[in-house]
Amino acid sequence: MLEFKNISFKYDEDPDFIIKSLSFRVDKGEFISIVGPSGCGKSTVFRLICKLERPFEGDIFLEGRNINVLGKGYIGYMPQNDLLIPWRTILQNSSLPLEIKGGDMKRVRNEAEEMLQSFGLEKYKDKYPRDLSGGMRQRVAFTRTLLTGSELLLLDEPFSALDAITRLSMQEWLLDKWSKLNKTVLFITHDVEEALFLSTRIFVTDGSPIRKFKEIKVDLNYPRTRDMLDNPDILRIKAQLIEELKRGIRL
Ligand SMILES: Nc1ncnc2c1ncn2[C@@H]1O[C@H](COP(=O)(O)OP(=O)(O)OP(=O)(O)O)[C@@H](O)[C@H]1O
Ligand SMILES: [Mg+2]
Repeated sequence: MLEFKNISFKYDEDPDFIIKSLSFRVDKGEFISIVGPSGCGKSTVFRLICKLERPFEGDIFLEGRNINVLGKGYIGYMPQNDLLIPWRTILQNSSLPLEIKGGDMKRVRNEAEEMLQSFGLEKYKDKYPRDLSGGMRQRVAFTRTLLTGSELLLLDEPFSALDAITRLSMQEWLLDKWSKLNKTVLFITHDVEEALFLSTRIFVTDGSPIRKFKEIKVDLNYPRTRDMLDNPDILRIKAQLIEELKRGIRL
């Protein structure tokens, strides 16, 4: 589905590389979480996949095609500071990716309405983002991401601003959508338990610059329940992950 081949990247303003000869692969249908210390370059990985930044060297392939040859709208990206546009209604926010792609406005509207309905959000369609709770706004942002039609969804800390209980229910909501829609998800989080609960595999960054992801397979079946996280193997992985993340924090 997605392949990084020897990607190196630095920001112009910065003397140092933040990604150096990074290679990895994600298979179709996987749910991959990326965890790593703040500022190590996780969001930058997403910005490279979206062509918001260009690699210094290396190539990125999506379903076997170099992303350089792909046109707009090939990716579903939910950025870290999501942002719904305040002056557009929920329906107008959701339909944005379809509008950008172009096409008949009536069809665009119908498709966005159908998606909102299937997520139980239809009653909010004429409201504005300020009228919705944080969890609801994240659902709308996710709907908008899905409406790009992309098979690969990049979700950058989508739940970090939510309270603990809403966050748990959003995790379950997301897993349910992922399993029904057969999408491939790349998900950035700082929350180790969230990564374990959601993912088929977890990619852990190995410091700065990122040269390699340490890949951890989460051997649990779906559908998942919270008590599965009490499995001794999972508890061991959790302790190890927390230790590695603590080591990576530069104070
Ligand atoms: N547009 C930019 N121009 C220059 N430097 C940037 C830019 N965006 C990020 N950086 C720098 O690149 C490094 C990596 O940033 P990035 O946002 O990818 O980190 P991150 O791992 O997503 O962090 P966090 O977990 O805090 O979101 C940081 O040092 C950051 O200051
Ligand atoms: Mg980030």
